[in-house]
Amino acid sequence: MGLTPVHFFSHGSTRMLEAETEAGSYWHRCGQEALKHNVKGVIMMGAHWACKGDKIEVATNPNPDKSACPFVTPSLYTEWKCNPDIKTAERCIKMLSAEGFNVSANPTFDWIHDTYMILIRMFPDWRDCPPVTIISMNARYDPYYHVKVGATLRSLRKENYLLVGTGGAVHNLYRNHWTDMLLYRESLGQEHPPETWALEFRQAVEDAVTKNRGPALRKAMLRLMQHPAYRSAQATDDHWMPALFAAGAAGDWEDEKFSNILGAETWELVNMCNSQFTFGKYTTMEEDQITSRVIEHAPVAKAIQAGA
Ligand SMILES: [Fe+2]
Repeated sequence: MGLTPVHFFSHGSTRMLEAETEAGSYWHRCGQEALKHNVKGVIMMGAHWACKGDKIEVATNPNPDKSACPFVTPSLYTEWKCNPDIKTAERCIKMLSAEGFNVSANPTFDWIHDTYMILIRMFPDWRDCPPVTIISMNARYDPYYHVKVGATLRSLRKENYLLVGTGGAVHNLYRNHWTDMLLYRESLGQEHPPETWALEFRQAVEDAVTKNRGPALRKAMLRLMQHPAYRSAQATDDHWMPALFAAGAAGDWEDEKFSNILGAETWELVNMCNSQFTFGKYTTMEEDQITSRVIEHAPVAKAIQAGA
């Protein structure tokens, strides 16, 4: 078994469930690819569930309901059935606990549209959807913490699990233009060009992802929180943490060999950029053979050794 890729999907508004968009088509293609590779399960961190204090939780509700998804035709999500993966949830709890996280099961959690909207687009027929594990964020929004959650679960990629972070690349609801949505259930009009801060941060995210690999990807994604346009692009940190989870899961030295791509993007509500990223790709065992790193001895060390 090789490695699976990791996705960071920007889920945008709820209209992304119903409207035909480039991003939605990309989610579908990623779903088809996952089915082709027989992924064992999907492990997701979404932007809409965070635990207080120092806690993190993993969903273990065997029969979850779905919270309402406004501005879309309800049958699009009410008729799609959730496929929760309790066994893998319990395994993730063990793995996270072993790494020192204060983690527990949440047996009553209902799914929210940040995750199920993506899953419905990936696997329109619910019978095709692989078992799904949902992991919460921590509401202190410590960036390093969320990278570590991804890094802790990274090894599951070698067992054919697909890890997905679902948040937003440029996602500031306070700076979106909502009139079309409220009047016409429409989010794609783009009557005005996006503002400069939105364009700048969108480009910074693309550059960070596509020009960095392995641990450098983690650093670059973390560093984006210090970008001058970060706070304009992310009014709150909740939609950025899943990006750090994804970078944690795809930012090992082993990941240096594989490129990270911007697969698609859809602008909504003038200033919201729904960029879709894939880190790495489906690989074979052979492609994963790592050339062992040769550590060069410094000349001084050699000299000391020779004189000893
Ligand atoms: Fe959201």
